[in-house]
Amino acid sequence: MRNTLIAIAAFITIAIVIQFNNSQTIDDKVETLLAEMTLEEKAGQLNQYSGYEIITGDIDESKISQRNLLVKKGLVGSVLNVLGTKDVEKAQRYAVEETRLGIPLIFAFDVIHGYRTIFPIPLAESASWDLEAIENAARIAAIEASAAGQNWTFAPMVDISQDPRWGRVMEGAGEDSYLGSQIAKARVRGFQGDDLSQFNTIAATAKHFAAYGEVIAGRDYNNVDISRRKLWETHLSPFKAALDEGVRSFMNAFNEFEGVPSSANTYLITDVLRGQWGFDGVLVSDWDSFGAMVTSGVAADDAEAAEMSLEAGSDIDMESDVFVNFLPQLVRDGRVDEAQIDEAVRRVLRLKYDLGLFDNPYKYIDAEREKNLILAPEHRAAARDMASKSIILLKNDNQLLPLDKTIKNIAVIGPLGDNQYHMNGFWRGKGQAEDVVTLLEGIKAKVSANTNVSYAEGSGLESLDSDKLSKAIELAKKSDVVILAVGEDADKTGESSSRTNIELYPAQQQLVKAIHQTGTPVVMVLMNGRPLAIEWSAENIPAVLNGWFLGSEAGNALADVLFGDYNPSAKLTMTVPRKTGQIPIYYNAKRVSRPMGDARYTSKFIDSPNSPLYPFGYGLSYTEFSYSPIKLSTDSINFTETLSATVTVTNTGKRLGEEVVQLYIQDLVGSVVRPVKELKGFEKIALEAGQSQEVSFTISTDDLAFYTRDMSFKAEAGKFKLFIGSSSEDLQGVNFTLTAD
Ligand code: GLC
Repeated sequence: MRNTLIAIAAFITIAIVIQFNNSQTIDDKVETLLAEMTLEEKAGQLNQYSGYEIITGDIDESKISQRNLLVKKGLVGSVLNVLGTKDVEKAQRYAVEETRLGIPLIFAFDVIHGYRTIFPIPLAESASWDLEAIENAARIAAIEASAAGQNWTFAPMVDISQDPRWGRVMEGAGEDSYLGSQIAKARVRGFQGDDLSQFNTIAATAKHFAAYGEVIAGRDYNNVDISRRKLWETHLSPFKAALDEGVRSFMNAFNEFEGVPSSANTYLITDVLRGQWGFDGVLVSDWDSFGAMVTSGVAADDAEAAEMSLEAGSDIDMESDVFVNFLPQLVRDGRVDEAQIDEAVRRVLRLKYDLGLFDNPYKYIDAEREKNLILAPEHRAAARDMASKSIILLKNDNQLLPLDKTIKNIAVIGPLGDNQYHMNGFWRGKGQAEDVVTLLEGIKAKVSANTNVSYAEGSGLESLDSDKLSKAIELAKKSDVVILAVGEDADKTGESSSRTNIELYPAQQQLVKAIHQTGTPVVMVLMNGRPLAIEWSAENIPAVLNGWFLGSEAGNALADVLFGDYNPSAKLTMTVPRKTGQIPIYYNAKRVSRPMGDARYTSKFIDSPNSPLYPFGYGLSYTEFSYSPIKLSTDSINFTETLSATVTVTNTGKRLGEEVVQLYIQDLVGSVVRPVKELKGFEKIALEAGQSQEVSFTISTDDLAFYTRDMSFKAEAGKFKLFIGSSSEDLQGVNFTLTAD
């Protein structure tokens, strides 16, 4: 009895201590709470476990039953993949009502391009070049995710990659750092809003820090071996952009940099992220990446993995148990300084306060809100708008598109022509296949009552079936047009989905050729997570749309474009190779001493044309645009001046259209080899038929700065070339000079 009374008294005392008076700042509250915590409870705050509904990594089934027990012991600080207000409330009550200090959990999920209303995959969204629409898509994803009890998303993925063999290109914003930086900021704004304590905003995560997009051969989880120059020139600016936009967390990458795993890389974390950039947010590991240091042979055992990760500046251990199992003993053995653990715990507690979880741990739990907001009609409408804006018109011979809605007989053919599942892509969140409008459904809803729309699968994604093929051929022969839906298996894009060959699967290539052979006009609709090397189709199929995986409203958006209710405006953000063997091929390649050319001793492949199939920034419209010559305010500036470059763009076609006006700059002489051109600005404009608009770009030395020979970031005096146009290849150029005086 006496012990019980003592325990109750102790609990009440702590409860009083924890009930801070309101005059305390959040930092004060963090310190007060930290002072109450045991070493085990501190390690618990740095421990993150996955729920089991959606598993995003390998999990040891035997551990699952212990998970709730550990939460009740205060040995879990955050969880991922625990979804829906019912399960979130259950887990939160364990943490708040059954632990000694009642510290609430944070609930995280990979809300990559939508929670339940699924938007186009991020690579598709990036092709819209529409920062407002991209921000809005993230905003809606946050509204739905927070309505389902989530407070933290592991997005945006800001990895730059020039290698479409790597399946994770679908998660990013393409090959260019400048565009990737603008999009990173838009996504952070969308997820976090301007007040993290609001119930409809969630913390965002810049991932994967860093250079994960450089995995050798595009093979996921492979080594990365690049210079610090390449790291800074290509990979770090989108992370810095996300940080400048206020992103509240980073996630480290699976790969090493300079031989040291990212999770324990003191250059990346201590020097750059925490040191130079002053990031004081939370750094969470990727799945088991601490423990994986034993596998890669850099840590002798889990204890050393914990020691190395903490000392570099990592905060949270996702799914490897090394922090919760070893940090207390490492402190007792004098191998880890408790003050460093305190630093990490402060960052985690600070995030929980900023999310409002201490004020009300159940604020994100409202079943009514969840029911009303998830898949709301206005969310679907936004998804359809974003999807239409993400579709790239790659080819349109003889203006075959847009199709007339009164066409008599339309054949929809292909394994993706009436498919729901794949439309949600790899990171489908809580997207449900049954929510998806298929291409066939979208077309049927679009055309006239007298139009016959028929469907034939034609082939599997990878399997050929002679019966299916002959049925498809028969249908094509008696149709006025074929809409041929081919592409990828969504589960063979995204994580752990690298391909040695980025062409259409052979079965689908046979289907394409057989349907082409019938002589019926064909419109190809690609549904894909990465650029596909469709050289034969590009030469033989009259109209080609790159439709990506467009999410819940895929069919409606594609029908909007196919039948002209939306004039396609998207532009490639990743170069499309002719052949896999050309990879890496990207627009902003550095100059070489023997530039590509017909002469023998020049840099080229001898068994293929060396141009891309389609270049960065490329995309057609149902109308045409003309550009006036570039007007410069001056052709010479010094380091304190700016110049403006202006063009007049005219819609010379017969219908409203949008154009992404692109600005590139080339530094003609530098102290190091410089790219042939670099994107430095863009503006997406809408013009009615016959309408013109002036588009101006202001250039300062900030736009001309680069990592010079000693890696200092600055501009160098000299000659430059400035280009403006409709893609990275359809450009006009003028020269200007930066003078030293
Ligand atoms: C995965 C991914 C990462 C994701 C995490 C949690 O392995 O690499 O992007 O956020 O695990 O699902």
